[in-house]
Amino acid sequence: MTTTSSRPDQGASPQRTDESLVPTLSVDALRQLQTERLQATVRAAYDNVPHYRKAFEAKGVHPDDIRSLEDVPRLPLTSKADLRDNYPFGMFAVPREQVVRVHASSGTTGRPTVVGYTRRDIDTWADLMARSIRLAGGRPGDVVHVAYGYGLFTGGLGAHYGAERLGCTVVPVSGGMTDRQVQLIRDFGASVIMVTPSYFLSLLDEMERLGLDPHDTSLRVGIFGAEPWTESMRAEIEGRTGMDAVDIYGLSEVMGPGVGQEAAETKDGLHLWEDHFYPEVIDPVTEEPVPEGEPGELVFTSLSKEAMPVIRYRTRDLTRLLPGTAVPSMRRMEKITGRSDDMMIIRGVNVFPTQIEEHVLAEPALSPYFQCVLRQPGRMVELTVLVEPHERMADAEAAALSRRLEHTIKTRIGTTCRVEVRDPGSIERSVGKARRIVDERPRA
Ligand code: DLL
Repeated sequence: MTTTSSRPDQGASPQRTDESLVPTLSVDALRQLQTERLQATVRAAYDNVPHYRKAFEAKGVHPDDIRSLEDVPRLPLTSKADLRDNYPFGMFAVPREQVVRVHASSGTTGRPTVVGYTRRDIDTWADLMARSIRLAGGRPGDVVHVAYGYGLFTGGLGAHYGAERLGCTVVPVSGGMTDRQVQLIRDFGASVIMVTPSYFLSLLDEMERLGLDPHDTSLRVGIFGAEPWTESMRAEIEGRTGMDAVDIYGLSEVMGPGVGQEAAETKDGLHLWEDHFYPEVIDPVTEEPVPEGEPGELVFTSLSKEAMPVIRYRTRDLTRLLPGTAVPSMRRMEKITGRSDDMMIIRGVNVFPTQIEEHVLAEPALSPYFQCVLRQPGRMVELTVLVEPHERMADAEAAALSRRLEHTIKTRIGTTCRVEVRDPGSIERSVGKARRIVDERPRA
């Protein structure tokens, strides 16, 4: 998409403005806007959130020291633990009465992390999601099937408000009841679907089980996110459906879905909505910013959030920043490789489930479902990759496939693993984020 084609289409909802769609401002204007918003955010965080005041003081930095974007690395980093320590509402920068909604992430251990939104925050989020859906190829008038979960998870409601804001007809299905999802897609003529890529695979299986060719549905665009997925997965989904499969990124602590969006026209990584979130990439060990274009951990400072500003929030997501393309003034990030917490270290070799995904999908006999099981019978960690063929396989054929995949993973990724071919349909399916790693190691 070029920015000149980003004018709202005729018949748009009255709330939408050009700026709420894909912005056309110059880099200089963007940097100016970011600087002003940064200063206001830093001031609000310092004045209203005791955690930030303490963290600023510990780092010897004061809001008056932040004169330009170059000063951002002087600010303290914020982690999920900081949010947990201030459970539930301690990170709010406004009185609780001004918070019109909360969301929370369940978290695998202990307390969930809670995030809050003022009325204006919800409005900004809807604008950014409308912008994201537009960049993904959605248009006013589209029927948008939302199969992200509704509830404390930000996926469902985030997608919902954005699609409404763009002027679409929203079908708020949430996750689950796979057979009904397929019926609704068919009956309502959905043209856009918003869902995790792993759950979309289950929807495709269900269509095929019913004898429906996914090419024949009305679906044109899939906006897939909330979990890492690869170019091979894009090829699999596009090949099976004829749709455009594009990536959407976000996290609750920073807003929810719609922090970054891939353009249908370019499919070359995700544009970050830099007018609202200032991105950095740091070395996760030294915590120092890496040179532009180098890989590392993504960190965001919010620029417009009122209820819960975040200062240099460590996402744990690994990627690198690239120059803008479809939206020239906004930088892109490469598809997320994985979270640093999802990095498996097998005999000294770092492995992400996305790397395994590439090789599983390269085997035509295998379905896209897989899991990485970690065990530690002795001193060494062992990785077993569970895979599933489309059709039941003879033992000899399964054994040959296992050996081939083990060899490919060894030579291409550098790690030794065991590949186990399971029965078709036996690997866990999820209705939301897929569980790619099953850690069976004894707890320390
Ligand atoms: O997953 C928000 C979201 C909903 C994004 C729907 C996109 C679509 P959380 O539950 O807080 O929020 O989880 C955030 O999910 O830090 C990443 O590790 C991962 N994640 C989200 N989008 C992507 C993506 C939502 N496109 C965490 N690629 C993030 C890879 C993603 N990982």
